[in-house]
Amino acid sequence: MSQLSATSELGQHVSVRGLVKSFPVRGRADDNVVLDQLDLEIEAGEFVSLIGRSGCGKSTLLELIAGLQLPTTGEIVVGEQPVRGPGADRTLVFQQYALFPWRTALQNVMFPLEMAGVGRAERRQLALERLDVVGLSHAADRYAGELSGGMQQRVGLARALACDPQILLLDEPFSGADAITREGLQALLADLHRRFRCTVVLVTHSVDEALRLSDRIVVLGGQPGRVVAEVERTGDGEDAGEMREQIVSLLGD
Ligand SMILES: Nc1ncnc2c1ncn2[C@@H]1O[C@H](COP(=O)(O)OP(=O)(O)OP(=O)(O)O)[C@@H](O)[C@H]1O
Ligand SMILES: [Mg+2]
Repeated sequence: MSQLSATSELGQHVSVRGLVKSFPVRGRADDNVVLDQLDLEIEAGEFVSLIGRSGCGKSTLLELIAGLQLPTTGEIVVGEQPVRGPGADRTLVFQQYALFPWRTALQNVMFPLEMAGVGRAERRQLALERLDVVGLSHAADRYAGELSGGMQQRVGLARALACDPQILLLDEPFSGADAITREGLQALLADLHRRFRCTVVLVTHSVDEALRLSDRIVVLGGQPGRVVAEVERTGDGEDAGEMREQIVSLLGD
């Protein structure tokens, strides 16, 4: 059975409600409040980019949506379900490809399917399909270390999509790539979003990448972090240069 053809449904809606995240600081009585009363609605199937200065809490927000961290107060609801931990409906892709070096490309993509208890023949079939989608069928039997950085990130995307996640979370996934490789990876991500219809939340430092890929750009800022602006891409005729300037000036403040 191919799950790939069954993914015409949109991904899940994400609702971030009054989210506060603070961390204790050694030697200090008060906690470091990283995110404060953050509200954010992400539509099913939407592609949202999160942009903001270093340290404003982008990765923390992504980890909270992934369920790798829990809110101090407030909540995150995916579909109808409050997030209480990691789940197969959400996958997170990091800047470092984090492939298993002792596994081939195919075996890396099969890994989450193994964890999900998918049978041997089916997981091989699904993993091969995913590798095909990212244009790497020919490299299925190569070990991670035998692949270029761009290829490794393609395998990372194939692995992230292995179990048909509702929500794909990406933390600066292409920032290690050179300009040309990055262009290719961006085009691939746009294509994957069209095909899989999952909800995508992309953290990036690149305003151009955000403008190119997303339906909406959410600018985080302040200390503690909150949403300082949301810029919607409104299709044809929009002056991308003007939007770019607007976002850059928001990031500079
Ligand atoms: N596990 C943790 N324990 C303590 N403090 C943390 C933890 N994780 C993050 N922080 C703090 O939260 C703040 C936000 O960190 P975060 O990594 O989310 O920022 P970011 O926006 O992703 O930055 P960058 O753009 O540099 O990746 C920082 O001040 C960081 O020190
Ligand atoms: Mg980060």
